[in-house]
Amino acid sequence: MKGLVLSGGKGTRLRPFTYTGAKQLVPVANKPVLFYALEDLVEAGITDIGIVISPETGEQVKAAVGDGSRFRARVEYIVQDAPRGIAHGIKIAHDFIGTERFILFLGDNFIRDGIVPQVAAFREGTMNAQIILYKLDDPSSMGVAILDGDGRVKRLVEKPRQFISPYGVIGIYMFDHHVFEAVNAIQPSARGELEITDTIQYLIDHNLDVRAHLLSGGWIDTGKMSDILEANRLVLDILEAKNEGQVDSTSIIEGRVVLQAGAVVHNSRIRGPAIIGERTRIENAFVGPYTSIYHDCLIRHCEIEHSVVLEHSTLMDIPTRIADSLIGRNTRVTRADGPPKTLKMVIGDYSQVGI
Ligand code: TTP
Repeated sequence: MKGLVLSGGKGTRLRPFTYTGAKQLVPVANKPVLFYALEDLVEAGITDIGIVISPETGEQVKAAVGDGSRFRARVEYIVQDAPRGIAHGIKIAHDFIGTERFILFLGDNFIRDGIVPQVAAFREGTMNAQIILYKLDDPSSMGVAILDGDGRVKRLVEKPRQFISPYGVIGIYMFDHHVFEAVNAIQPSARGELEITDTIQYLIDHNLDVRAHLLSGGWIDTGKMSDILEANRLVLDILEAKNEGQVDSTSIIEGRVVLQAGAVVHNSRIRGPAIIGERTRIENAFVGPYTSIYHDCLIRHCEIEHSVVLEHSTLMDIPTRIADSLIGRNTRVTRADGPPKTLKMVIGDYSQVGI
C-alpha cells in the first residue's frame, strides 16, 4: 500500500502565514504539522509516499522533508500546477500509485492517535474505499456521511444546511484503483475544483463498497488560526519533559517543559506544558502553559501564555501579557518609544491584532 499526502493548496484561511510559507509547515508543538502525517503513515506501515506540492511552496516542503529517510520512508514529489482540488491531486498521482491501494492524507490534518487501526481495517477488508468519520454536534462546515446499518456509506453531503448526520468526513481516505475512474469522470464544481466528495459519491453511485471507520481520538484540520492553537494544546498535553538546553539558577521550570537543543533560560519562569525551540533565548520572562516558542527566538522582559511563536521572532519589553496568540516568522513585537499609550505597528495584510 502507498501513501499520498497533499501539501499544495492555497491556504487562504491561514493568511498571512501562507504568504511566505506552506501551511503544512506551520509548527504544532515545534514540529511541522505535515511531519505528523508522515509519521502516522510510517507507523501504519506505509513507507512509499508521494507528496503533492505546489509551485509556490513546493521547494520549502522538499527542503523540510527531503527524500523521507529521516522518517524511514521513501518520498517522491508530484507538482500540481494549480490548486485544482483534492481529487485533482489524486488524478495527477496516478503514475506514482499505479494499481496499488493507497492512503490519501491531507497534509494539514492532524490526528492525535495516528491511523494504525483504520489502515489495518482497510488492509484486511475487501472494500474499495474507506473514509474516516469524526462525530460532532455540528458538522455543518464539513462533508457529512450518511451510513446504512452495516457501516457502508450511503451518501455524502457537502456542508449540509440542515442536520442530517453527526459524522463529518476528515482528511484521511483510503482507495483502491477504482478511484482513478472516478476522478477522471467527475467535473469541476462551482468553485472550479475537482471535489473529493464528488469522487466518493461517484464510487457509491457505481455500487462500489465504500465503508466508514469512526475515529475515537482527537482530530484537527489545522486550516485556521484557532485550530493551530488547539492542535498545539493537544500535543503539549501529552508531551514528555526534556531538557537539552541551559537553565540558570535564578530560573524556575514548573511542570512538563521541553527545552530543545541550545535553548537558554535566564532569570525566567516557564510553566508547562510548554516547548522552547532550538537556540531560543528566554530572558527575564514568563512563559505560561500551552505555549510553543519555535527556533531562534528571543523572549525578553515579557509574559506569554497559550500561544505559538514561529521561528526567528523577537518579543521584547512588552508591558501586558500576551495570550491566545499566533505570531509569525521573523516578527518583532517590542515596546514603542514615544509618548505613553502609543501603539507603533507594521502589520501585514490579513493580520489580526487585539488591543
Ligand atoms: P484545503 O484546506 O481544503 O484547501 P486550501 O489549502 O486551498 O486552503 P484554504 O481553504 O484555506 O484556501 O486543502 C486541504 C489540503 O489539501 C491542504 O494540505 C492543501 C491540500 N491541497 C492540495 O494539495 N491541492 C489542492 O488542489 C487543494 C484544494 C488542497
